[in-house]
Amino acid sequence: MEKEIYLTGDRPTGKMHLGHYVGSFKNRVEMQNSGDYRPFVMIADTQAFTDNARDPEKIRRSLTEVALDYLAVGIDPKKTTIFVQSQIKGLFELTSYYMNLVTVARLQRNPTVKNEIQQKGFNESVPAGFFTYPVSQAADITIFKAKKVPVGDDQEPMLEQARELVRSFNSAYHTNILVEPQGVFPPKGLGRIPGIDGNAKMSKSLGNAIYLSDDHDTLVEKVRQMYTDPKHLRVSDPGHVEGNVVFTYLDIFDPDKKEVEELKEHYQRGGLGDVKLKSYLIDVLDKFLTPIRQRRQDFSEDIPAVLQMLKDGSQQANAVAESTMKEVREAIGVNYFDSLS
Ligand code: TRP
Repeated sequence: MEKEIYLTGDRPTGKMHLGHYVGSFKNRVEMQNSGDYRPFVMIADTQAFTDNARDPEKIRRSLTEVALDYLAVGIDPKKTTIFVQSQIKGLFELTSYYMNLVTVARLQRNPTVKNEIQQKGFNESVPAGFFTYPVSQAADITIFKAKKVPVGDDQEPMLEQARELVRSFNSAYHTNILVEPQGVFPPKGLGRIPGIDGNAKMSKSLGNAIYLSDDHDTLVEKVRQMYTDPKHLRVSDPGHVEGNVVFTYLDIFDPDKKEVEELKEHYQRGGLGDVKLKSYLIDVLDKFLTPIRQRRQDFSEDIPAVLQMLKDGSQQANAVAESTMKEVREAIGVNYFDSLS
């Protein structure tokens, strides 16, 4: 039997952080290693242009950074096709066709895009490409006929949009070539990690992220700043665990659940200071990050090999995309010259 395809991706606008790991990388690596899927992972440079058109240098630089982060967390090019969005020309074509099957009003209702427009302070000057990126993202997913899309919770509206476009396309052109994708989300409560400042979302633009590539000293500095319980002034005071970022991180990254429960009890009882608690968290995060940092360092010593890997992956992905595009052109009827020999 043919394996189910999964596809996912990231905008190359910087290095990847713990939020990306928890929200999506963890699922990808597990799904990859299960051997049950045919995995594709895309560096979404075209999408990065939708809000960074005037900073191509950042995108270019971030492309290798993201590739290194992938390799560092265990996405393995022998098992997963890692490729670059802009190199798949069929994506531009399919996006164009999709653009006519969705209304402006429908796009205006996308809650994630609405949020991002606010966050980025676009106001009245939203680039048309940014506003319509859910359409191009639908092309990303469907050109590979991906059934599964491991992403963070904020991407559900993109999947809904993609499913609608598949249905519209199949019905408009009386075909069933395109496949409706499903999101694969992290377990409830574990899909999102707050920033070190206590903000619900870890993000580069908020400046509250711990990066997969942060060295030990940077990690120590960030954990030192981490938001705990503002009312916990003296070590002997009882402290709060809810909303305390240190405990949220421990819940996610400490495999020793019993130890975490004991620390929580001790903290609530009083007598456990933030400094001590934080140094415990630093050990936990160091244990998690050390192998990732090491692999990242190893791969970064041969950047041409990383680029070659992306080039090979893009070639592989392009072959799959082109075979779908052939069907798409036939379904729409723009295969005018097929009958000529
Ligand atoms: N929008 C996704 C993000 O910001 C990145 C992305 C682009 C993506 N194309 C995709 C994710 C296709 C999944 C599938 O993280």
